Amino acid sequence: MKQILIEKFKKLYGREDGTSYFSPARVNLIGEYTDFNGGYVFPCGLAFGTYGIIGLRDDMIVRVYSDSFSKEPYVFELETFYKDEKAPWSDYIKGVIAGFYQKNYMLDKGFDLYIYGNMPAGAGLSSSASLEMLIAVMINDLFNYGIEKTDLALIGQYAENVYVGLNSGIMDQFAVVHAKKDQALLLNTDTLQFEQIPFVLDEYQLMVINTNKSRGLTESKYNERFSECMTALNILKPLYQINHLCELKTKELIYVEKLLDPTVFRRVRHVVTEQERTILSSKALKENNIELFAKQMIGSHESLRKDFEVTGKALDTLVEVSLKAGALGARMTGAGFGGCIVAIVDKKILKNFIEETEKNYESIMGFKPTFYTVKAKQGTHKI
Ligand code: GLA
Repeated sequence: MKQILIEKFKKLYGREDGTSYFSPARVNLIGEYTDFNGGYVFPCGLAFGTYGIIGLRDDMIVRVYSDSFSKEPYVFELETFYKDEKAPWSDYIKGVIAGFYQKNYMLDKGFDLYIYGNMPAGAGLSSSASLEMLIAVMINDLFNYGIEKTDLALIGQYAENVYVGLNSGIMDQFAVVHAKKDQALLLNTDTLQFEQIPFVLDEYQLMVINTNKSRGLTESKYNERFSECMTALNILKPLYQINHLCELKTKELIYVEKLLDPTVFRRVRHVVTEQERTILSSKALKENNIELFAKQMIGSHESLRKDFEVTGKALDTLVEVSLKAGALGARMTGAGFGGCIVAIVDKKILKNFIEETEKNYESIMGFKPTFYTVKAKQGTHKI
């Protein structure tokens, strides 16, 4: 891959001095919609993601080329750039630069950049965080800023929140930059402390399966769930002395129910029970109790379907047919409303599992899902 990047860079910009990087996609194993509620998330990095090659310039111009988005290099100036409705993908790059500015790291040179993504688009595996962290790590290296990974993740989140306009939590950027091979990352999104837990499933296979229904309405629905959670927090904060919804305990839900509108209450119930499932899952994984881990995944999907209402027919069907075909556990992953599920399947039945799931999903939905056998991989790095 590195050779292809070097050749492409030369062809595009006539230079041979680029530095190459890879930034993975991420899959969240469990802990969904807990990250803007101060809870735990449990993601890992994947083998597909975004490649890039970059070289500094002597002026303040940035040139970017991406096979998926542009026919010729997209050009902007570091002093005067703005959000461009005609090239919304460039906002992720500009947003990261703006994130550095906001921390007073003022880039004093432009750069030439070529990016190449090999992950399924719109699949909920966080192509945006993969790109944001690619840019953040490249800039950090090239300008010798020496910024820690966690602060780079916060710069990526700034790009997403302020520049792109999604009120997302820290999970995606954090997972992409901190991911480690054969480890899953248990992150406390309140304190940003984290633990890497060995994640090699031996006789089981981790599967990511794409519904091939791209995620409609994700941004507006996502921001709607964010404000429902904030509405609940504003009411409960003074009464329960909490800073985040994830500080509530399930046994308190019975009292909380009386204080909230029924829909808002169901959102809270998901968040609080998901927090408990995530903690339980991480303990189960440490004890190599994959059955218990998988059971929490099933509970998570049910809660996201009934209480948080972010699944939809394609995701629900795929989880249902996967479980019927023998998956030990399965759930939607990421923001939902389409995109992918994540499943754990016994390697002995894998071939049959794929055939059955494909057949049954297609007979209900009218189109096929796509299967990926995956493993936990390293975060954003130089190649
Ligand atoms: C998206 C967001 C994350 C997180 C998940 C849901 O991936 O970017 O911050 O909120 O949805 O868990």
